[in-house]
Amino acid sequence: MSQKPGFASSTRDVPESGAVPKHIAIIMDGNGRWAKKRHLPRFAGHKKGVETVRDVIKTCLERGVSYLTLFAFSSENWRRPEEEVSLLMQLFVRALQHEVSRLRKNGVRLRVVGDLSRFDTQLQKLIAAAEAETASNNALHLTIAANYGGRWDILQAMNRMLTAAPDKSAGWSEADLEAHLCMSFAPEPDLFIRTGGEKRISNFLLWQLAYSELYFTDTLWPEFDEAAMLAAIESFQQRERRFGRTSEQVAQENTARVNKPESNA
Ligand code: IPE
Ligand code: IPE
Ligand code: MG
Repeated sequence: MSQKPGFASSTRDVPESGAVPKHIAIIMDGNGRWAKKRHLPRFAGHKKGVETVRDVIKTCLERGVSYLTLFAFSSENWRRPEEEVSLLMQLFVRALQHEVSRLRKNGVRLRVVGDLSRFDTQLQKLIAAAEAETASNNALHLTIAANYGGRWDILQAMNRMLTAAPDKSAGWSEADLEAHLCMSFAPEPDLFIRTGGEKRISNFLLWQLAYSELYFTDTLWPEFDEAAMLAAIESFQQRERRFGRTSEQVAQENTARVNKPESNA
């Protein structure tokens, strides 16, 4: 059965089984509950959460993960008490001021995606400077999703796609839209992790998570240490990704890959 090009699905080639995920996307949840358990203000949990971010970046660098995308602030998080929002913004500013030189030295390229226009000018300038400072790195592509929402992303991409090509008689393709999504520079996430026990996507990368492997853990973000991260990667490595194919087809593709002569690899 032939496929109409305009309706081609993003179904991809089956990746090598047991491989380290190329792209990991994480909803870092549970900071508030971590603090509450200790009778601390919620902000203490967010502060502690920054240390986990540092550790997770280190693990990704060591294990050869190429893309790490972290949900730091959703478009819905503005609904939180004003004081918490303001403290989160201050924490973001502080992290940009203190962490960027380390990222640069470690070969990490930083990007921030989301509707940044709602942030104050100081924060917007810091983001632009941090992105510029790390622009030539490529050991790890670190993306922070801030004031990000999956529906917002799809809509802004659609608007930009229609501005670029207002009239396409053959119809627009998935590729036309994908080119305008915030994460167009990255492959789709192989592994999605959510800490903190909730089993939902909370308007994160709605388009891009179509075929990601999902991993939910009760561990709260401030306690998500190296062992917890490695457990998530190991769980991923044991999964069989089929992208609609049968198990037998996947096994055949893997055998063919193993038998492929070096020169053609
Ligand atoms: C996630 O932790 C961090 C942000 C949303 C900024 P939470 O603050 O949502 O923590 P819980 O869910 O209340 O424990
Ligand atoms: C999702 O966490 C957003 C981030 C981690 C930044 P929330 O804790 O805000 O999600 P919901 O609203 O409980 O689903
Ligand atoms: Mg939460």
